[in-house]
Amino acid sequence: MKFFLDTAIVDEIRKANEFGILDGVTTNPSLVYKSGRPFKDVLTDICKIVDGPVSAEVTTLTAAEMVKQGLELAKIHKNIVVKLPMTEEGVKACKQLSGKGVKINATLIFSASQALVMAKAGASYVSPFIGRLDDISEDGMCLIDDIREIFDNYDIKSEILAASIRHPMHIVECAKAGADIATMPYTVFQQLFKHPLTDVGLKKFMDDWDKAKK
Ligand code: E4P
Repeated sequence: MKFFLDTAIVDEIRKANEFGILDGVTTNPSLVYKSGRPFKDVLTDICKIVDGPVSAEVTTLTAAEMVKQGLELAKIHKNIVVKLPMTEEGVKACKQLSGKGVKINATLIFSASQALVMAKAGASYVSPFIGRLDDISEDGMCLIDDIREIFDNYDIKSEILAASIRHPMHIVECAKAGADIATMPYTVFQQLFKHPLTDVGLKKFMDDWDKAKK
């Protein structure tokens, strides 16, 4: 499973990238706002750090505007993936932009039917939002299972990009369910590495090694 970071904070991306296991980045308007920096500057910086897909979301609502903005965003760097919302206009824009060779990440996916529609419209990635479903007492992971089954039934090549990840067990469950990618906040990325028994075990090994040298 590929690991993406879900952030517009360049410092977090730089730190995560040092491990050599980061495959891409997703951003959204709220994350860009949180970064406090201009959208284009943030995207340019991210593309310099990570050699992989970088999702940049349109901030327009009609298909014509989305296509225009998507083409502009795609010019920033060859790794830019245009993020389109799952709306009727978004579907039209997806069909048009993917037809022009622009890679699309369909965002705000909350049902398997939405994922199927966007895949048919040519999206390279579909982003089911697990955490936001869990937040309203629905089972986000069931959605990953359903989309995996449907895509496998028809050999659909769109990648399942599990989004709205809240904790490390979401990553584990997504991996078991066969999500192609998980995009996660930097805090969750860090949590993936941790186990208290690793720390306890290492301390004991180091203490004993000190004693053995004496
Ligand atoms: C996905 O690409 C979105 O940016 C993101 O995962 C949304 O997550 P949230 O529900 O934590 O805002």
